Amino acid sequence: MGKRVIVGVSGGIAAYKACSLVRQLKEAGHQVRVMPTESALNFVGAATFEALSGEPVRTGVFADVPEVAHVRLGQGADLVVVAPATADLLARAASGRADDLLTATLLTAHCPVLFAPAMHTEMWLHPATVDNVATLRRRGAVVLDPASGRLTGADSGPGRLPEPDEIAAFAELLLARGDALPRDLTGRRLLITAGGTREPLDPVRFIGNLSSGKQGYAVARVAAQRGAEVTLIGANTTGLVNPAGVDVVPVGSATQLAETVAKLAPEADALVMAAAVADFRPSAVAESKMKKDADSEPSRIDLVRNDDILAATVRARADSELPRMAAIVGFAAETGDARGDVLFHARAKLARKGCDLLVVNAVGNGRAFEVDDNAGWLLGADGSETVLGHGSKTLMASRIVDAVAGALRERS
Ligand code: CTP
Repeated sequence: MGKRVIVGVSGGIAAYKACSLVRQLKEAGHQVRVMPTESALNFVGAATFEALSGEPVRTGVFADVPEVAHVRLGQGADLVVVAPATADLLARAASGRADDLLTATLLTAHCPVLFAPAMHTEMWLHPATVDNVATLRRRGAVVLDPASGRLTGADSGPGRLPEPDEIAAFAELLLARGDALPRDLTGRRLLITAGGTREPLDPVRFIGNLSSGKQGYAVARVAAQRGAEVTLIGANTTGLVNPAGVDVVPVGSATQLAETVAKLAPEADALVMAAAVADFRPSAVAESKMKKDADSEPSRIDLVRNDDILAATVRARADSELPRMAAIVGFAAETGDARGDVLFHARAKLARKGCDLLVVNAVGNGRAFEVDDNAGWLLGADGSETVLGHGSKTLMASRIVDAVAGALRERS
């Protein structure tokens, strides 16, 4: 159902990206009111925001005075998103200024508030901004960490606005959760795998699967914004936007994935194995492209078993090789059959793999793979069973990260 969302826009070059955000929120069915600062209008005109949102655009508190807009709009909002949030806007918000409609609205809003900062690296790292961000977070606002990359001019570093898709995903998450994202993973290191492995047959062909990587990326995105240091191993996920603040390591095959996990696991407090790993690989990889001759029979492909990465990590922990590892999370895409339903097979898998938590998705009929919505259960080795329900992959990710955070708290 559509919610009332205020999109605040402050004056930075990334203001143009607010246009995509407004469009996405509108397409999701929300009523969107854009509230730029005066300086934001140097970058994008009011007419653009009015056309995209279908609502009037004001910057000051002296417009619509009889309606007391600076109070009413904040009071009535379900979410305020400020994107981009410049260093100046964060400073004004942190000090409780009310010198334009946006800052006045931030003071009257009872709803969740999401800031998506964008500025030069020096400004982001300046102690004044660091303090302002800490103040806003302490008061319950969600301040996203910016992405790293190309900034205005030739500079590059942390300070880029997270992509509009990412901001929209967090906006939806806050609307669904109705509370702020805690920064409860600060100081924790998470290793997350995502995507689907490809087992090469020859230089151009492979055996693969349909996993898009979206669920693992969503887990990485949420964990990073809860303060964790996240390394995301992406198996063939080139089309996806790297989550802000996350270190992404690309891999191709199950063997490469296994080697990378084995290398990085000793530093990790938790492993989340969202990747769909091929159980088998061709026993030989042809050096040149396999040809079909007019009269030849199709050739047989011999397969050998890949190592089970999850089970190997569980074993390594049992052998005291992973002293930090406090939570190992597996994923299972299951269908029911004559022997039992989805949960029957999932419980057996949890026991077989020996991991601490298993995220279970019912698949078939186009569910889970390649779609943005997921549904399922979270099974614990302690016998617990939580329904994950329906919702976006970001909402699922947030519930999975809740469980990981809980497991880390218990075991530390
Ligand atoms: N997994 C893994 N290494 C493998 C295969 C799977 O680490 N070689 C992990 C996946 O990342 C996932 C979990 O194990 O977290 C379950 O994967 P799944 O393919 O469902 O498990 P399988 O053991 O292959 O079970 P099935 O017999 O149902 O294929």
